[in-house]
Amino acid sequence: MFSSYTLGSHVARLAHVDKLEGKLLDQALIEIHQAPFLIENGGRNVAAGYLRACGLSFGKLYDAVKEDPLYQQAFHLMHGGTLLSERLLMNFFLLLKYSIKEMPGDIIEFGSYRCGMALFLAYVARGLGIKGKVYALDTFEGIPHADGRIDFHACGDFKDTSFDAVSEIIQTLHLDNLILVKGSFQYSFPKICSMLQPLSLVHVDGVTYSSVKYAINAALPHMHSRGGYLVIDDALCSSCIGALQATEEMVQEYHLNAEQNWPHLVYRYAPPLNLKT
Ligand SMILES: C[S@@+](CC[C@H](N)C(=O)[O-])C[C@H]1O[C@@H](n2cnc3c(N)ncnc32)[C@H](O)[C@@H]1O
Repeated sequence: MFSSYTLGSHVARLAHVDKLEGKLLDQALIEIHQAPFLIENGGRNVAAGYLRACGLSFGKLYDAVKEDPLYQQAFHLMHGGTLLSERLLMNFFLLLKYSIKEMPGDIIEFGSYRCGMALFLAYVARGLGIKGKVYALDTFEGIPHADGRIDFHACGDFKDTSFDAVSEIIQTLHLDNLILVKGSFQYSFPKICSMLQPLSLVHVDGVTYSSVKYAINAALPHMHSRGGYLVIDDALCSSCIGALQATEEMVQEYHLNAEQNWPHLVYRYAPPLNLKT
């Protein structure tokens, strides 16, 4: 449908995203996510970012996702076990359905709390036939350390969760693609490193400066060569200026620009070959 368009005209066309619906909307999502001439170094595809963000914000995309049976099932099964808003869940759904499905690899969430989001990701990934694992990393005992000079949240916040209770839900749902990894990121990530496939999606939701900083630096060398998605939740959250600082430092160090700025920050990164492990 869009093959004769340039990036500039794509963006112009997306101004009318509110008019797209049904099959036309689905077709636009498929074509824009896969169009090689829209993809910059590192995998960034601004047109795809616009289509997701503007579609969810102003267009018919919210209704389209809301009516999708797989989305509905995943939304209901996690029983409200996430702090994240519905538009965030929807954007993850779109990433999985229109891009990550074509990028075989693993998914990691740094900071899973009650694991509603991790359950959602694992259920949708399985439903779409995505083969990789979803790793959910958390202490399951709250934030392990915080720096009062920059972090608003304190050590022990978010401790009202249970590793055993979440494990039971996973068993009941037979979600064997979801792996819980207990402990601080600094301890747990090195333990799973050698098993990891290239990362197609990383969700950083660790709240504090040091946790977000660690998660970003640990994950980036493992990203998929097509440009794995790095979604940073807390940077735009009113109580997480430390997470924003860690994100700003990443932008400076890795020279990254976002693919999407709403409902959360989405970056793409493909590591140079010599950094891969
Ligand atoms: C905002 S909550 C995560 C919310 C969750 N993603 C959701 O969908 O509801 C932040 C979580 O990060 C965890 N966390 C923060 N720093 C951590 C670290 N260094 N190691 C392990 N877990 C950490 C906390 O224990 C907490 O459960």
